[in-house]
This record gives sequence, C-alpha cells and structure tokens, in this order.
Amino acid sequence: MIQRWHKKKTHLPFIAIVFFLFVLCTIFYNERRFQEIHRKENRKTGDQNDVNTTFSIKSTPSSSGILDRFSTCNSTVKYKGQKAESLVQTDEQEEMDDYCNVFSGRWVFDNISFPLYNESDCPYMSDQLACRKHGRPDLMYQNWRWQPHGCNLKRWNATEMWDKLRGKRLMFVGDSLNRGQWISMLCLLESVIPAEKKSITPNAPLTIFRAEEYNATVEFQWAPLIVESNSDDPVNHRLDERIIRPDSVLRHASEWEHVDILVFNSYLWWRQGPVKLLWSNEKNGVCEEAESLDAMELAMDEWANWIESNVNPLKKKVFFVTMSPTHLWSREWEPGTEGNCYNEKTPIKDENYWGSGSDLATMGMVANIVNKLKSKVRVLNITQMSEYRKDGHPSIYRKFWESRSAEQLANPTSYSDCIHWCLPGVPDVWNQLLFHFL
Ligand SMILES: *[C@@H]1O[C@H](CO)[C@@H](O)[C@H](O)[C@H]1NC(C)=O
Ligand SMILES: *[C@@H]1O[C@H](CO)[C@@H](O)[C@H](O)[C@H]1NC(C)=O
Ligand SMILES: *[C@@H]1O[C@H](CO)[C@@H](O)[C@H](O)[C@H]1NC(C)=O
Ligand SMILES: *[C@@H]1O[C@H](CO)[C@@H](O)[C@H](O)[C@H]1NC(C)=O
Ligand SMILES: *[C@@H]1O[C@H](CO)[C@@H](O)[C@H](O)[C@H]1NC(C)=O
Ligand SMILES: *[C@@H]1O[C@H](CO)[C@@H](O)[C@H](O)[C@H]1NC(C)=O
Ligand SMILES: *[C@@H]1O[C@H](CO)[C@@H](O)[C@H](O)[C@H]1NC(C)=O
Repeated sequence: MIQRWHKKKTHLPFIAIVFFLFVLCTIFYNERRFQEIHRKENRKTGDQNDVNTTFSIKSTPSSSGILDRFSTCNSTVKYKGQKAESLVQTDEQEEMDDYCNVFSGRWVFDNISFPLYNESDCPYMSDQLACRKHGRPDLMYQNWRWQPHGCNLKRWNATEMWDKLRGKRLMFVGDSLNRGQWISMLCLLESVIPAEKKSITPNAPLTIFRAEEYNATVEFQWAPLIVESNSDDPVNHRLDERIIRPDSVLRHASEWEHVDILVFNSYLWWRQGPVKLLWSNEKNGVCEEAESLDAMELAMDEWANWIESNVNPLKKKVFFVTMSPTHLWSREWEPGTEGNCYNEKTPIKDENYWGSGSDLATMGMVANIVNKLKSKVRVLNITQMSEYRKDGHPSIYRKFWESRSAEQLANPTSYSDCIHWCLPGVPDVWNQLLFHFL
C-alpha cells in the first residue's frame, strides 16, 4: 500500500474522490455522534422536556415549499446569472482604529499559558476533536500562543467574557468548523460556572448552552450553506445533490433576530462541486445549476441583505469567520513529500505560506461583501494564521464511526482528518480574537 501511495499523481483524482467521500462521511457521522453526546448530557441534567421535539426527524413533504433532504428538482438548467437586488448601502464608516492587524503574526510556543483548559475537564468536548483521548502522543499542538506583530492580544479571561455576555445571547451559525469553535467557547467558559447552574438543550438545529447566574446563552445553529437548503437537518444531511433557496435566509434568520452576538462561517460546503438553485418564485421545481463560487456569492448577498436590513450595530454585534484552511497535501509545505497533516508536530514557519485549499477567489468575494458592511460586520480573518497550523488537525486521533480496512490502517494518511481541529487548539485562539473585539 505504501508503494501505491508513492506511485504519484496518477492516483490523485482517485484519492481526491475518496477523500471527498470521507469528508462527507465524517461530517455526517459527527452530527449523529454529537446528538448522542447531547442526549446523554440531557439525561444527566434530568431535562427531558425537549427530547421529543429534538429527535423527531422532520420529513415535511416538498409540497409545503420547505426544502428538506427529500427535496428534488424536477429538472435542471444552467445558471442564468440572476442576482438578488442588493439592499446594501455603500458604507461610509471610517476604518476602525486598527493600529495593529492582529491577524498578522506568528505562533509562539508557550506551555505556561496554553492550553487554556484541559481536554478531559470539558464536559462538552466532542469525540471528533478530543485528540489526546484518542491517542495523540505529541501534545505540543496545545501549547501555541498567537502573537500578532506589533501588539498583544487581550489575555483570555472567562469571568470577564461572562461579564460581557451577561443577559445576552451569543450564537454561532454555520458548519462543523463553526461548531468546533462553539465547543471551544463552551470549554473556555464552562469551568467558572458551577454544575447546577449550567445546562445544555439539544434541540437539533439549534443547541443552547445556558448559564443561569449570567442569564446568558451560548448557542450553535446548524446552517452550513447560510441560506435555506436541503442540508439543514444537522443529523440527516442530504449529501449527493445540494439544493439551496438562494433568495431565502428566513428559516435560519428567524433565530438570529433576537441574538446579541452572531458569529457566522461558511465555506467547506460550497467546495464540493456545483449547487442547485431553487428560486422561491419557481413553481415547476426547475433548478438552475451554478458553480460553487456563484452559488456562495448568491447566498452571501442574501445574508448581506438581511444584515443591512436587520442589524443595528449599537444593539447587535456580527462577526464573520473566514475560511478554515485544510492540510491535505504535505508537498505544499514540504515539496517532494506525499503525505498530509498526519504526523505533523509543529506549525509552518514561512509567513507567506498559503495552501491551495483556501480559494483566493472565494476570499476576494467574501472581502468584497463584508467590506460594504464594515460598520455592521467584523471579520475574524483566521485563514492566514490557521494556514500555519498543519499540526493542529486530529489526523487519525479522533473517533471514527465507520470501520477501516486493513489497507487503510496500514496507511494512516489515507484516513486522516486534516480539516477539523483538535481541542484545546487553534479554535481557542479564534475565540480569543472574538473576545479581543467584543
Ligand atoms: C413524548 O412523546 C411521547 C410519545 O410519543 C409522549 O407520551 C410524551 O408525552 C411526550 N413527551 C413530551 C414532553 O412531549
Ligand atoms: C515547557 O516546555 C519546556 C521546554 O520544552 C520544558 O522544559 C518544560 O518542562 C515545560 N513545562 C511544562 C509545564 O510542561
Ligand atoms: C489541567 O490539569 C492539570 C492536572 O491534571 C492541572 O495541573 C492544570 O492546572 C490543569 N490546567 C487547566 C488549564 O485547568
Ligand atoms: C479576570 O477578570 C476578572 C473580572 O474582570 C478579574 O477580577 C480577574 O482578576 C481577571 N483574572 C485574571 C487572571 O486576569
Ligand atoms: C435575561 O436575558 C434576556 C435576553 O436574553 C432578557 O430578555 C431577560 O429580561 C433577562 N432576564 C433577567 C432576569 O435579567
Ligand atoms: C414538478 O412538476 C410537476 C408538474 O409540472 C409539479 O406538479 C410538481 O409540483 C413539481 N415538483 C416540484 C418539486 O415543484
Ligand atoms: C484576510 O486576510 C488576507 C491576508 O491574510 C487577505 O488577503 C484577505 O482579503 C482577508 N479577507 C477578508 C475577508 O478581509
């Protein structure tokens, strides 16, 4: 098998397809697993009321007009380039006083201040991200502090963060990477709250952590494509044919309205090939098929329109987290090698490093949209800093729910997860940045 791996480029498309399937599977299995964890948590806290609503899987017939995993297109035509009317005004807001770009910097080994919590102490840890528990022998990945050039980040302080969250709702909205950041936030915050004063409600599309004494919640909403889609069920996604309603964020936005701090992300789910568009005024079930970038831009425009019409920056803070990099090809940081993130133990030192997984056209499109919303949206530009962290992924040190063949086991790179991030780890620093800007 090792030889086969070394046979070079001819196998790349095949490997890419296998990897694509693997990614979808891991995402899928993780959702299911996560529900189980929460179900357990729920039992523990004796909070049985939500169980029925939580785990009944909706199977609304498509006739209701709502997309679900059973939705299909009657036929598909090429995307004709229709765009929603933009409500976004050109933003006159002055550049914020960015005397220092905190996203530009380097990772410094610091085993005194980091990690910010212990993996095994966090009751909300996911088996997908608990790398030490799953046998990772090297633990240095937990000990890196982000040091911006020319200034310091605010030190993480859980009590101070709770003071900022008092009486408020903080909601993360997005995909499994955003959920990783949400779990990181729970782990960063939970230790200062006594067990009987905190609870978690596993309500499938929206999971809510409550801290009684602060009257505050930290929530996660599954919305991998931002707009309404047939992948909106966090447990049973539709994987093969992704259909979105490019002109409707309503299904998700009904929850955003009363939230004080919103943290969005979206990227990975757009990168799996063309997307079908089912416009709301389409009566015959005819979909248009659009390229990833066009489809994501439509969704982002719709999101921007919602922000423009609904966000008063004095009352609501909105963050957008840029794409989380992957480390699928070690030849990108070490030419001549044929591996991936497996067995990587230290960050990349080259400050100009940028991997091929982080699509520049997508970044440009996102920058263009959020720049017009500067007074209402703050970008957490985590891409460059996370690019350096080839050592931060679970690789083989996480729970896998599907069994692996002897051939795979003999070749760990073949099933390594180089997409998500170990905790404690990189997402803790994304949250430190969030804390810095609140
Ligand atoms: C849950 O469902 C069961 C049967 O479907 C029902 O008897 C029970 O009252 C429900 N519980 C709640 C809290 O709705
Ligand atoms: C931190 O790292 C240094 C150098 O690797 C090592 O000597 C020291 O024992 C470590 N300290 C802790 C608390 O792990
Ligand atoms: C993690 O646990 C060790 C002992 O198990 C303890 O010494 C250390 O202070 C803990 N670290 C944090 C951040 O709680
Ligand atoms: C954290 O913040 C609280 C409240 O603002 C403060 O009392 C405490 O000293 C801070 N802790 C550290 C370690 O800075
Ligand atoms: C708790 O916070 C909510 C907003 O999230 C607010 O509407 C409510 O009045 C608060 N309750 C108390 C007792 O402060
Ligand atoms: C597909 O077309 C038929 C007949 O034109 C229509 O009745 C049906 O509602 C369409 N399906 C969808 C999903 O719109
Ligand atoms: C994020 O930072 C990179 C440089 O690291 C820059 O090229 C990109 O435009 C920024 N993205 C956004 C959305 O501001």
